[in-house]
Amino acid sequence: MTNYMKLELAAISENEGFARSAVAAFALTLNPSLTELSDIKTAVSEAVTNCVVHAYKGGENACVIIECRAEKTEAGGILHIAIADRGCGIEDVDKALTPFFTTLSDEERSGMGFTIMQTFMHEFSVESAKGKGTTVRMCKKIGMPETEKERLNA
Ligand SMILES: Nc1ncnc2c1ncn2[C@@H]1O[C@H](COP(=O)(O)OP(=O)(O)OP(=O)(O)O)[C@@H](O)[C@H]1O
Ligand SMILES: [Mg+2]
Repeated sequence: MTNYMKLELAAISENEGFARSAVAAFALTLNPSLTELSDIKTAVSEAVTNCVVHAYKGGENACVIIECRAEKTEAGGILHIAIADRGCGIEDVDKALTPFFTTLSDEERSGMGFTIMQTFMHEFSVESAKGKGTTVRMCKKIGMPETEKERLNA
């Protein structure tokens, strides 16, 4: 059976640490290394932060929905993560994925969140609809020898 979890929480900055730790705790079923765990935490943090700071702009009913699936493979495992909001959506996803692109340049944002997620995870995609929300999907291959990772990346 595939192990999974679903989590819905308020899109507020106080919940960023909880979301990051919850996904990391779930990932433990796949026996990740400390580096793999830290990569997962970093990527989840960036995705949840985006829901908090960009998706709702202070509106009501701000929520983040996190779904994870742990797939055991012969060589190790694959952690699938989807992080979704029901917020404003992204006008131009390709542009948003460009390193250093940010719509909040006057604040402390650097426009590197999506780039960080892509760097730390093995698969990454963004689906967004204006006025409906955004879903970020990511995969992390865990405990695999480098050759196996290359085969799966091919
Ligand atoms: N969940 C979201 N809802 C709406 N817009 C988003 C969402 N996530 C990202 N964006 C848009 O994509 C842009 C790029 O996101 P990214 O995370 O790469 O950078 P940032 O959040 O602006 O800065 P940083 O992550 O470095 O603090 C954001 O500035 C924002 O306009
Ligand atoms: Mg960001």
